[in-house]
Amino acid sequence: MRLDISELGLSETGRRGALGIPVPSAGEPQKSLGLDRDALARGGFDGKPGQALVLPEPDGRLRVAVGIGDGKTADAANGRDAAAAFARAAASDAELVYLIDPAAGLDPAVAAQVAVEGILLARYSYDALKGAPAGTPVTSITLLTEPSQRDAAAAGARRGLTLARATMLARDLANTPPAHLTAARMADVAVELGARAGLSVEVFDRDELVRLGCGGLIGVNGGSADEPRMVRLTYRPAEDAASPHLALVAEGIMYDSGGLSLKPADAVHATMKNDMSGAAATLSAMLALGELGCRTTVTGYLMCTDNVPSGTALRLGDVITIRGGTTVEVLNTDAEGRLVMADALVLAAEQRPDAIVDIATLTGACMRALGTRVAGVMGSSQPLIDQVLRSADATTEQAWQLPLEHAYRRELESDVADLTNMGGPNAGAITAALFLEEFTGGVPWAHIDIAGLAQVDKPELWRTAGCSGFGARLLADLAAGFVPA
Ligand code: BES
Ligand code: MN
Repeated sequence: MRLDISELGLSETGRRGALGIPVPSAGEPQKSLGLDRDALARGGFDGKPGQALVLPEPDGRLRVAVGIGDGKTADAANGRDAAAAFARAAASDAELVYLIDPAAGLDPAVAAQVAVEGILLARYSYDALKGAPAGTPVTSITLLTEPSQRDAAAAGARRGLTLARATMLARDLANTPPAHLTAARMADVAVELGARAGLSVEVFDRDELVRLGCGGLIGVNGGSADEPRMVRLTYRPAEDAASPHLALVAEGIMYDSGGLSLKPADAVHATMKNDMSGAAATLSAMLALGELGCRTTVTGYLMCTDNVPSGTALRLGDVITIRGGTTVEVLNTDAEGRLVMADALVLAAEQRPDAIVDIATLTGACMRALGTRVAGVMGSSQPLIDQVLRSADATTEQAWQLPLEHAYRRELESDVADLTNMGGPNAGAITAALFLEEFTGGVPWAHIDIAGLAQVDKPELWRTAGCSGFGARLLADLAAGFVPA
């Protein structure tokens, strides 16, 4: 993928590929469009965000007007949507040229960043297992800017490329079928990509997990023919001894059948290869930290296993011991995500980082509460939760805070162990978060439940069908801008 920044007017006539021109819904459109508002209106185009009007030129090249809404409310989300609308409208062009309009009211760095994100994410498809790619891959993006905005746009575009690549990697990993991406293979991928990105990567196999006392991950793995893996990734900023420290903890259930509490054979079960989307997002985000100039030390834990039934699987009523000694009575083997997360939260808290943020496709209840566009956030530190919500906003990976209501804690009481893994019938997202909180050792903590966000069933603009890669850009933005509370 080539990424070029070119000055407005210079490459316009000799350009290769389709040209996208953002057009606001009010005021005069860009002169380079060659059309006034009346002409656009006759073409059925009024500049609403996400709208596209394709104008073929006599030589066959496309010129595409894309709506960015009323210029006064221009924001990063509109900008990303507009670029995505352009990339979809020019779906058979491999080379795309896009105008960063100085009059559009967006900071040029942000405008360039979201333009690159919108284009690349809209044109993503998972083709690894197809005979031929489903669409035309984008081979080059040229952004046209005013000379005075060139440097800012170039920096923004590079950031956009880094963030889009993170999301695309997370999509690739989550889209990969469970037999192709076992826990062991996921660890191999982390080793290979981590080395290239300058992360230190440690892989813990079954024996080492037993030695560490990780009874949650070992227990969930009990029914599996494949070994579990815990991957610990560490990003250390260059020459910054006194950097803050953020820990990330991620659910990596490579496939969730529910275990002996077997899921029905329905459409949701059919998406359960994506139950490692938290791990995919965390790995992808951490690989981007160097390019983003992150100045925080970040430790990431990927807790990887599948959850399947067999004669050696966890049974209902079994009691397992999480690292650190907390015993848990397993009353439903489909509430497995919290069990693997518990070990990693304990390990993360032992290092006494400034904060722990976890991400997991944890509960169907969170999807019921917030749907498929908004993730749930809970935690023990409001300033940390606020940072998560700000990154969610900046990346349009939307999130909303749910209350961590401690009155529900009693639903996790067990007759035989310290805790059970099942709350009551209601507020399942909250009782799952309360379970996780038990293992955070008083370290400021925030939890992101992305169960509703991992899969896109209605593709639109930069959200393509299949696994979404949700969380990669959010976590990268969070880590890169992290401030200890
Ligand atoms: N991976 C699921 C959560 C999930 C459900 C993600 C639907 C995406 C869509 C998780 O492991 C699970 O099965 N949770 C159970 C918990 C229950 C048994 C307490 C659930 O949500 O039903
Ligand atoms: Mn489950």
